[in-house]
Amino acid sequence: MSTFPLPRPARLAVLASGRGSNLRALAEAFPPDDPLASVTLVISDRADAGALPAARARSIEAVHLPWTDRAGFEAPAEELIGERGIDLICLAGFMRILSPGFAERFAGRLLNIHPSLLPAFPGLDPHSRVLRAGVPESGCSVHFVDAGVDTGPVILQRSVPVLPADDPAALAARVLEQEHCAYPEAVRLVLRGEARFVPRSETGAGS
Ligand code: GRF
Repeated sequence: MSTFPLPRPARLAVLASGRGSNLRALAEAFPPDDPLASVTLVISDRADAGALPAARARSIEAVHLPWTDRAGFEAPAEELIGERGIDLICLAGFMRILSPGFAERFAGRLLNIHPSLLPAFPGLDPHSRVLRAGVPESGCSVHFVDAGVDTGPVILQRSVPVLPADDPAALAARVLEQEHCAYPEAVRLVLRGEARFVPRSETGAGS
């Protein structure tokens, strides 16, 4: 298991289900010759994910692994991640829930980005719920993945104002802009050993 910092550039895998704008931000922040890290593998559960052509356009290996069921996806994904010597996995708009076992095996090496200020508004479609709740700000959180959904320790957050005229799409677009800065910044913190995974059971949180 990799512990950070590494004495060489890290190899990043990105798991994405959709258009892949966070993948593009990570690929631009960590190009092939970067001394800290490069994105070297993209895996999608969807054949039509924009993330796959976006990766191929940058000469990054891009693999579609169908979500037959959770085990049917996770087993080949783990094999590929092992074979390619991946050091850190970034979930970026990956719309599936991985098993607690997967999260445990990659503890400290598995990150996710969520478009709300966690622990507020975890789960699907946070923007509509933010607007219904009438809170004055929202944002994004990059966190280590643990066995729960959007419950792992937060590495960093960036906030944006919620404006009176916002609908979910307008708020999502404002948050997404911050996601593209937040994800590379959080990856840098992890790879430099400045953010480490401490399971909640060891912090006393949530007990
Ligand atoms: C992002 O808002 C991410 O936080 C959320 O899904 C969206 C994915 O966007 N979980 P993209 O595929 O990275 O463009």
